[in-house]
Amino acid sequence: MTFPRPPQPAPRFPDDFVWGVATSSYQIEGGADADGKGESIWDRFCRVPGAIADGSDGRVACDHVHRWAADLDLIAALGVDAYRFSVSWPRVQPDGRGAFNEAGLGFYDRLVDGLLARGVRPYLTLNHWDLPAVLQDAGGWAARDTVHRFVDYARQVASRVGDRVDAITTHNEPWVIAVLGHENGVFAPGLRDRRVAMQAAHHLLLSHGLALQALRAQACPSRAGIVLNLSPVFPASDSPEDAAAARLEDGRLVRWFMDPLFGRGYPADVLAFLGDDAPRVESGDLEAIATPMDFLGLNYYSRSVVRAGGWFDVHSSGKRLTDMGWEIVPECLTALLLRLHRDWPLPPLYVMENGAAFQDRLQDGHVHDGDRIDYLASHIGAVGDAIEQGVKMAGYMVWSLLDNFEWASGYAKRFGIVHVDYDTLARTPKDSYHWYRDFLQAQRRARAGGSGAVRAALRA
Ligand code: FCB
Repeated sequence: MTFPRPPQPAPRFPDDFVWGVATSSYQIEGGADADGKGESIWDRFCRVPGAIADGSDGRVACDHVHRWAADLDLIAALGVDAYRFSVSWPRVQPDGRGAFNEAGLGFYDRLVDGLLARGVRPYLTLNHWDLPAVLQDAGGWAARDTVHRFVDYARQVASRVGDRVDAITTHNEPWVIAVLGHENGVFAPGLRDRRVAMQAAHHLLLSHGLALQALRAQACPSRAGIVLNLSPVFPASDSPEDAAAARLEDGRLVRWFMDPLFGRGYPADVLAFLGDDAPRVESGDLEAIATPMDFLGLNYYSRSVVRAGGWFDVHSSGKRLTDMGWEIVPECLTALLLRLHRDWPLPPLYVMENGAAFQDRLQDGHVHDGDRIDYLASHIGAVGDAIEQGVKMAGYMVWSLLDNFEWASGYAKRFGIVHVDYDTLARTPKDSYHWYRDFLQAQRRARAGGSGAVRAALRA
């Protein structure tokens, strides 16, 4: 079989660049109420008729809670430096307050030790969306008390495994939680209220900053930061209306998070747009949010195109689309990284998720997912282009290790580099898994022997 040639890696990626692969708890773990796990807002949201495209849920998912050791073997055989996973808050603290669940903490303890035993560095995310449902009953992220509950939870997880993980991410994609979960209602908790959404966004940022301070106060050796979903935003046409809509969307998606994290407060244009829907901010909040981070992560899948007063039809752009209907535009990743580098004083920057869903077919034990290989190769190349233009990049992670529960899309959308048969739960590495493994081997030879060794390896 022939694979597209990996991007020339040797001169581009620093020796200490971290290559990884990512997952999240609700999407792979299953064990919905195993060993004392509490209910999460996603367990609950999945029961809302029509919320999930195929009517499915994460009760079993990839059954990773029982198959974790074999999954770690797959990660080790891939040859990555790092594995990014998330902790299910209701698994380790079923009520989101008070007692911690030893069985849940023990699971992540073994996972971390299992990674280290296999030579893979753990990158832990505290909140990849599965908030304990009982906290939602008390107002969820829109309630200020949840900020303090999160900080307690962060302290406990850090004191249990923080000595052995490389990086702790507070939140994954706070924009998604706030806007898709509380304003558009398409993700848990399924609310449709802009004022509530923006209060949730503020509390997510505040809890991030206070958690960073708490981890440092307990001398947690792990680095700490946040992961944002960032896309470059384009107007659909040259009209002034579309330009204004794109500027506002950039404010809500990018600057609303980046500006306060870097000490600039919330962007004035977005505050003006929000009016009465702007969040209540107490004195000291903005200082806490701007607590210096050890790293910043971004997840990148596509660009965003905005039309005033309506939706932009991606089919009109002529770009190739993934199975999610997202345009494949790797050059926009380079542009985004350059813009971040230009506009904010960044700490080490990671692409913490990048990947694509395609309609894969398992045939005779193989999945020939050339489209996914093209996607990954071109986006890794786009990161290399940004590095060559002066952006300091620290790492890149593929989303995702396994096909998994893709939120409101259910199981129909497959992002894995390993195929999962949802009847038998059998794992089958796809061609993209083998491609990434070979690419990483070439990287390692480059580290050891210089670019000549890589080029020879890639020709072989
Ligand atoms: C990101 C999420 C991740 C996954 C990918 C496709 O927004 O962080 O869990 O669903 O999208």
